[in-house]
Amino acid sequence: VQASSFTNPSAPIGVFDSGVGGLTVLRALHSLLPGERFLYLGDTARLPYGTKSRDSVFRYSLQAAKFLTTCGIKYLVIACNTASAAALEALRTELAPMPVIGVIEPGAEAGCKASRTGRIMVAATEGTVQGGAYQRAIARLRPDATVVAQACSVFVALAEEGWTEGLIAEAVADRYLGEVVRADPLIDTLLLGCTHFPALTRTLRAVLGPSISIVDSAYTTASVLLADLRRRELCARHERGGDIRFLATDSPVRFARVGARILGTPLDPQQIELVDINDAR
Ligand code: DGL
Repeated sequence: VQASSFTNPSAPIGVFDSGVGGLTVLRALHSLLPGERFLYLGDTARLPYGTKSRDSVFRYSLQAAKFLTTCGIKYLVIACNTASAAALEALRTELAPMPVIGVIEPGAEAGCKASRTGRIMVAATEGTVQGGAYQRAIARLRPDATVVAQACSVFVALAEEGWTEGLIAEAVADRYLGEVVRADPLIDTLLLGCTHFPALTRTLRAVLGPSISIVDSAYTTASVLLADLRRRELCARHERGGDIRFLATDSPVRFARVGARILGTPLDPQQIELVDINDAR
């Protein structure tokens, strides 16, 4: 365990998700902070988190986070809404003084900024919707807002399978969201409260039409991270030269295939390290 890595600007930033969805966040982090080193962990063996109980997600998140801390990270980004909802506060306490951020506050901020009517639809996993974390975060930022939260569990499978466009994806999107939006013309913003969902943006746009703003937490999370790194004087010293290391708890071949689509760059399975995080403590 590298106990003081959180004070070392050259140490990597740990990022974790249940699978490849968090790569939508990683892409934003890497593009805003090209000089940083990133260590991305996808807990693909235990995906999906979104339909599991809060206790299971909490336990998985703790193991993933502890595993990353043993790799000497300086900062932890929970690039998964379900894990942020279940474990952010506990991880902050458990890993202190390691700084930890999640994606829910930044996502809520993006949603509140985008909406004019204050009627915001949040699409997320079952766990995130039931826990009410978005509803609370939005109420804190914008008390006049109304949140319509919709669990869209099948989107996770579509994103992991790469079926993000076409008839099946459109039918699923319409089933979950189309009717709700048609019945409530005041909804002007769809907040993607799951890091897998940006993979479906084109389909969502086709189903919902041009007047709904579709926002996610990736870029707001990246700017929160940048501001905090600056405040803590923890920015890597080099302008460029950052790198990304990928870790997965299940098949690197599958991670590379599906992840490449989300990242928009080819991924070689050789680049993905298979890890066992069960013993992390
Ligand atoms: N990507 C995760 C999130 O943001 C959840 C996907 C899953 O169900 O594992 O909530």
